[in-house]
Amino acid sequence: MRGLPWFAKVYLVAVIGAACALLGYSVAGSDRLEWLDWSNLLVLALLFLVCESVPTLLNVKQAAVSVSFSAALAAVVLVGPQGAALVGMTAVFSVRPGLPLVKRLFNGAQFAICGYAAGWVYESLGGKARLPDIAGFDALIVPFAGAAAVFVPLNFVLIAIVLVVTGQADQVPPLRGLAQFMVSYLGYATFGLLIAGLWATVNSISAVLVLLPLFVARWAFGQYVAQQRSYDATIAALCQAVETKDYYTRGHCTRVSLASGMIAQEIGMGSERLRAIRYAGMLHDVGKLGVPTKVLQKDGPLTEEEYAAIQLHPMRGLEIVRGIDFLDEAFAGIMHHHERQDGKGYPMGLAGEEIPEFARIIAVADAFDSMTSDRSYRGARPVEVAMAELRKGAGTQFDPEMVVAFTRAVDRHGWEAPRKVVAPPEDAAETTTKDHDDPTMPIQVVPER
Ligand SMILES: [Fe+2]
Repeated sequence: MRGLPWFAKVYLVAVIGAACALLGYSVAGSDRLEWLDWSNLLVLALLFLVCESVPTLLNVKQAAVSVSFSAALAAVVLVGPQGAALVGMTAVFSVRPGLPLVKRLFNGAQFAICGYAAGWVYESLGGKARLPDIAGFDALIVPFAGAAAVFVPLNFVLIAIVLVVTGQADQVPPLRGLAQFMVSYLGYATFGLLIAGLWATVNSISAVLVLLPLFVARWAFGQYVAQQRSYDATIAALCQAVETKDYYTRGHCTRVSLASGMIAQEIGMGSERLRAIRYAGMLHDVGKLGVPTKVLQKDGPLTEEEYAAIQLHPMRGLEIVRGIDFLDEAFAGIMHHHERQDGKGYPMGLAGEEIPEFARIIAVADAFDSMTSDRSYRGARPVEVAMAELRKGAGTQFDPEMVVAFTRAVDRHGWEAPRKVVAPPEDAAETTTKDHDDPTMPIQVVPER
């Protein structure tokens, strides 16, 4: 608690206090104690505790919440609002090494409040808190839907508030994705109804029958997420290596990846290809690692041989990443991102539709970011100027469809231009005096004598 702002402390105390009052009200009234099915309550509390603890060991945060929802809502049907509050409160004892006491108390309190509120709605809509009767199962559906419709948003709000007041607002899911978030969690909540429904026939084994496949599916998903993270880390490391070659191009790969993704989304690319184009944007210039630094840093015009070394970087890039099989279609983007619509690009001189779609997208994103970033030889150009330059090159250098798509995407989502680069002290960082991506200032080449 120490170090938290006063309003965060007030909020935490209010939630924990409210839960304690609810529990006191639930347990203290002797008439309420009488009807509670203590054996079911104990099994449900254990089940809830396992759901709260096990997924965390798998390091799948979302599963920790969603599977707990199932157990908490099963408790609403089987042991009513008071029982659901008691079950929720057991989150305090979840096996999460290192979880501070105040977080445990808040978790337990918010689950207790959600459980009680959901149970209250369930009973208000005519639901009976007891072992469901198979013949009367239909009558459970509406009250249960009401309970889930209260439990899920209330849980979201209570947690969102604590994140905001404790300065972790960035962890609150964005409003844009809120509907999707709610629908998926309501989906998990329905497993609670299945557990309750099966409880009448197979007792507590119903929880194993329903939750085991869920755990396995979430575990598999967790493995997938971990794999994607390691891919992202690999790509980021390669990008950093490229960007050490020129202080002024820091962040270029990431921004090209972002802009490429915006174009791809605008033309309706599917999620798998979207991921691949983002990787391609990150790695498009990885071949610069194979270009001699003295060529990249040379002041003044290049010889034809030196320029040829720069023109080789897409091929070098392909050679460097060829062994990374998850890059897949990204290879084409890396290899051909300097082709031009009129066939005057490199390395193959492809024209129009011959140029792979990924490369046509990256070409636009690459040139745009180059123009809107500071370079050692000029300041960043405003977004409108860079856009006009892209339109000027549409049909000759750039694919007009991609230019239009990017214009639309920037109109809709805006573009955050990089911060001004403060020139690094000499010898403190690598810098170059030319940028092969800048369409407004082509590299000067002089014939060799
Ligand atoms: Fe390039």
